[in-house]
Amino acid sequence: MKNKILHLIRDSAASVSGGEISRKLSISRAAIWKHIEELRKDGYAIKATPRIGYHLESCPDKLIPLEIKNGLTTHVFGQQIVYMESVETTMDLAFKLALEGAKDGTLVCAETQTKGKGRMGRKWVSPAGKGLYFSLIVRPSMHPSEVSRLTLMSAVAVCEALRDLSNVDVTIKWPNDLLVGNKKICGILTELSAEMDQVKFVVIGIGINVNATAKHLPAVATSLRQESGHPYLRVTVLQEVLKKMEEWYLKIAQEGFAPMIARWKVYSSTLGRKVKFTEINQLMTGTAIDLAPSGALVIQDKKGVIYQKISGDVEIC
Ligand code: BTN
Repeated sequence: MKNKILHLIRDSAASVSGGEISRKLSISRAAIWKHIEELRKDGYAIKATPRIGYHLESCPDKLIPLEIKNGLTTHVFGQQIVYMESVETTMDLAFKLALEGAKDGTLVCAETQTKGKGRMGRKWVSPAGKGLYFSLIVRPSMHPSEVSRLTLMSAVAVCEALRDLSNVDVTIKWPNDLLVGNKKICGILTELSAEMDQVKFVVIGIGINVNATAKHLPAVATSLRQESGHPYLRVTVLQEVLKKMEEWYLKIAQEGFAPMIARWKVYSSTLGRKVKFTEINQLMTGTAIDLAPSGALVIQDKKGVIYQKISGDVEIC
């Protein structure tokens, strides 16, 4: 009901009278007042003028489900939302919920994380209200060996969303770091639960630096705001990312991974570059010459020997 009242007052430029809300939604004026109070507690500034009605003056800059759902065009991703003001990491909460049976496409998001996780045991700095920190639960029918390509898919989707929303030249560093120049704007972490030949579920964790400024971020990171000079509505960025992710997810189910791999190459800032490649404490250098259909990075060393690396970390020389 709270949602319906919000819709009515959001869609009207003028005030909406209590009588009109009561008629359209068949509820009492006392009940309307109770829901308006709840909306105010959620952060909506609603002006109530006697004999005129309710007017929505501003919405909260929060990732609350009511805001995310308003204008979300997806059919599966983000249809179920778990929202936390603060959480240790959305990854662990999403994993727990997935084990308990959370639906395909469930979104777990938070305003801040106190133990944000990055790849290779690193931390993910998550300043409150400045970025997007979320994990998406997906249940693809896929072999576990294909999951790394789902991570590449997420990088392509976020890259496209950020490019569409801004004039920022976001690129992908293998496998799934999003960079502007050589600074990181988004990181992606994937965890999965699987049997030998079938994935049970995958948790795709995405951290995007949206409105953070230099004082919030490590020196190697940047944000959409820093790069474009103005702040963004985080909800709009999240909606666009979910839309792109769902589009690519469906495309992969219908057409396989090839179109996504081709698109990854378009946005890559790794291919054609000299790289240092680290895999479980082993270091090699060479030139990144291609992305294989499997999602492996193809590296040629100085003797001309070609390697395909499916996991590890890359540093551009
Ligand atoms: C990396 O680049 O190392 C991956 C960073 C992934 C960060 C996101 S933020 C939301 C989700 N929760 C976490 O703790 N990590 C991921």
